[in-house]
Amino acid sequence: MTGDGSDPDTDSGLAERRGLDEAVVYQPAEDSGLLAEAALEEAHGRVLEVGTGSGWVAQRIAEERGLDVVGSDLNPHAARQVADRGVEGVVADLLAPFRADAFDAVCFNPPYLPTDPDNEWGDWMEHALSGGESGRELIEPFLDDVGRVLAPGGVVLLLVSSLTGYDEVLALADDAGFAAEPVVEESFPFETLTVLALRRE
Ligand SMILES: C[S@@+](CC[C@H](N)C(=O)[O-])C[C@H]1O[C@@H](n2cnc3c(N)ncnc32)[C@H](O)[C@@H]1O
Repeated sequence: MTGDGSDPDTDSGLAERRGLDEAVVYQPAEDSGLLAEAALEEAHGRVLEVGTGSGWVAQRIAEERGLDVVGSDLNPHAARQVADRGVEGVVADLLAPFRADAFDAVCFNPPYLPTDPDNEWGDWMEHALSGGESGRELIEPFLDDVGRVLAPGGVVLLLVSSLTGYDEVLALADDAGFAAEPVVEESFPFETLTVLALRRE
């Protein structure tokens, strides 16, 4: 039975489960808004949002562009949240389970904060925020593999923070065979956020 208002016990269980999921899943912030803005402009065809978190970006792409979207995340609470939003949710480590040429657009707002290994805190919010010592520990394997799942003519939309090293990420994208073009950019007191559109050179 779903939480449709007819069973108070089930409703409170559902509310409790949703509360727990929200506590351990990254909720939409400025970076999410920028990724959504770029994706609404550039995405086409079948779309994958890697690291979907709350699923808010994936839901906007599905509803506002009418595209077929999958939201994936290492965090099972996130995969459940995106499914609660009516978007297909998959538990996945980066791109591992997806087949070659499967998507026309792949979006990713990665965990990107440079983190001292001695200060790692070891929970789902660390997975959401920490990009390891360089800030690029998830970006590197993502860029190494994303060309495999991208269909011909496809586009990758990758959020980059100045804290992560913009030029370093451009160099990694170039090494992976992509030409990069900024789609949206916004500056905040401590960082500048850019969403890059990456296309095969
Ligand atoms: C900064 S949050 C972005 C969440 C959401 N896309 C947004 O923009 O609001 C990064 C997300 O990446 C997920 N993540 C971390 N490591 C991952 C991995 N190896 N594979 C897939 N997702 C991962 C985290 O669980 C988190 O939900």
